[in-house]
Amino acid sequence: MAVLGIDIGGSGIKGAPVNVETGELLGDRYRIATPYPGSKEQVIEIIRLIIDHFNWEGKIGAGFPGVVRHNVIETAANLSPDWVGENLASIITNETTCPARVFNDADLAGLAEMRFGAGKQYENDYVLFLTIGTGIGSAFFVKGQLWPNAELGHLKIRGKEAEHRAGDGVRKENDLSWKKWGKKLREVLQVYDYLFSPDVMILGGGVSKKYEKFGKYLKHIHARVIPAELRNTAGIIGAAMAAAETIGE
Ligand code: BGC
Repeated sequence: MAVLGIDIGGSGIKGAPVNVETGELLGDRYRIATPYPGSKEQVIEIIRLIIDHFNWEGKIGAGFPGVVRHNVIETAANLSPDWVGENLASIITNETTCPARVFNDADLAGLAEMRFGAGKQYENDYVLFLTIGTGIGSAFFVKGQLWPNAELGHLKIRGKEAEHRAGDGVRKENDLSWKKWGKKLREVLQVYDYLFSPDVMILGGGVSKKYEKFGKYLKHIHARVIPAELRNTAGIIGAAMAAAETIGE
């Protein structure tokens, strides 16, 4: 079955049709930069452009960078606060008539990684999946079962939220070397390791493709730390998978 997956992020909004049985993209990923401040109107306009780009008429799944319960946005740390309280699935369906579902972006990227990527071999373990972009997203997988809406990017470490300490935005804005940034990330991962003792931490997000540049600085962590495999398509694939599984329920 083909479902359109959309991944809404603090810096880009991306979409592609996905074969949900195999996790393959059925067309090139289409990406549009997220305009500041990421208001409802701005983001919905881009979602519409993505849907039109693929002439899409079927099911749609979307990942949103905040807490999402029953398709309703509860937080939007890196987008405009005017999102809070909105049912994004209803908005998409009202505009397009396409059935839609919305979930937290990191949960979706994690689901895709667990099914088709680096997490495949850890379905019987305790896995902490992290997506490191503008924010730090997190998803716990307890023997393959997702615990949704974990918000470890906002955990305060020495008085500062983890994502403000070691998000990829911090690296880019301050033009940090891989070593400097890697050490910041190490501190964050050490705290997660100490608090939750996962068996494995999978690092996703755009920066995961540069893992060989910073992985060596992630020392003194008990969990096995590995890079994600699906790179910048995990959020799209997970969005499509989750929509396919929940629409019609
Ligand atoms: C949000 C999370 C999201 C993460 C990655 C954080 O700021 O609170 O919900 O998963 O960014 O986008």
